[in-house]
Amino acid sequence: GSIGKDGYRHYMEKELHEHPLVIGQTLQRMVDPASRRVMLPEMPFDLASVPRAVITACGSAFYAGMIGRYWLEDIARLPVDIDVASEMRYRNPPLTAGSLGLLISQSGETADTLAALRSLREKAVHILSVLNVEHSTMARESDVVLGTVAGPEISVASTKAFTAQLTVLACLTIATARARGTLDALGEEELVSALLDLPSRAAEVFTQGEAVRRMAQVVAEARDVLYLGRGSMFPVAMEGALKLKEITYIHAEAYAAGEMKHGPISLIDRTVPIVASAPYTPLFDKTLSNLQEAKARGGRLLVFTDTKGAERVSAIAEDMVVLPHVHDFVAPILQTIPVQMLAYEVAVLKGTDVDQPRNLAKSVTVE
Ligand code: AGP
Repeated sequence: GSIGKDGYRHYMEKELHEHPLVIGQTLQRMVDPASRRVMLPEMPFDLASVPRAVITACGSAFYAGMIGRYWLEDIARLPVDIDVASEMRYRNPPLTAGSLGLLISQSGETADTLAALRSLREKAVHILSVLNVEHSTMARESDVVLGTVAGPEISVASTKAFTAQLTVLACLTIATARARGTLDALGEEELVSALLDLPSRAAEVFTQGEAVRRMAQVVAEARDVLYLGRGSMFPVAMEGALKLKEITYIHAEAYAAGEMKHGPISLIDRTVPIVASAPYTPLFDKTLSNLQEAKARGGRLLVFTDTKGAERVSAIAEDMVVLPHVHDFVAPILQTIPVQMLAYEVAVLKGTDVDQPRNLAKSVTVE
């Protein structure tokens, strides 16, 4: 292709290093840094009067949507339904006209997501799409497009498009919350400041390369890996598990950390590494006690945390990666970066075809 790897071994590695840049570029389009306010393009409908949102997407874009759901429910107090596009379409959910259909796609060409868009359109909902390719089929069929400014993504495994999607969903949440009167000017300034802080915090993640590679040595030897997280860290765990499966062919499963005791805890022994995302948020204590339960059953804990959580994590973890502490709101965006890096480093150790994993296409244009 015409786009080079700029000295990186793979497109995926190059694109991982673009996280800080694309988060910054995406924010530049949606945030006024002087007033610390979100400025979305003109919408053909009023965010204040939308009765509910239905989010649908596939794969990584779906996990971005799951984090978007946490934000829209918690901060904008908007009822949200979410499902993968291939299921949403056949569920035929009852929807009030004037609801918001929120579609998320890097390519804008994914057949399942496009079919879901068309079936939502029949229910007279407003179609808002979060897209990276702005001249795509989905773009043409949407009422409004919010662009992720991630640039071309070549690697089949999505990286930078995911954090750019989260950045857009964060801004959409703030705008919706303001419209619905659930966020005042001070609250908006606080959340926007946390977003504006992200590009430089994201750049600091790359100083943790050594620790990520250490973890990769353990994961590369495993046949099965369990990813855990709670709240907005649960979709981060799902993203980590998907990335590992896609490019390393190691079986991985993500579980909500608190749900583990209802089943998968029976799997745990020394041979199943546990990769947990546990930054210091209000769910930190609960997550840690779930990790304790796993450790007590012989589990080897590999934990992504932050500077505020590090001391307590180090008391139980076999290894950890310590990121800068950021506002809870943006923590899932930052914590995504090292879980993607981990999958990449494992793939390098295994010598797989990182950018072109078997059986997969960059854009899945069949249902
Ligand atoms: C992510 O690493 C995957 N390759 C895949 O799950 C992807 O996110 C999914 O197919 C959706 O693609 P889209 O964003 O182009 O719609």
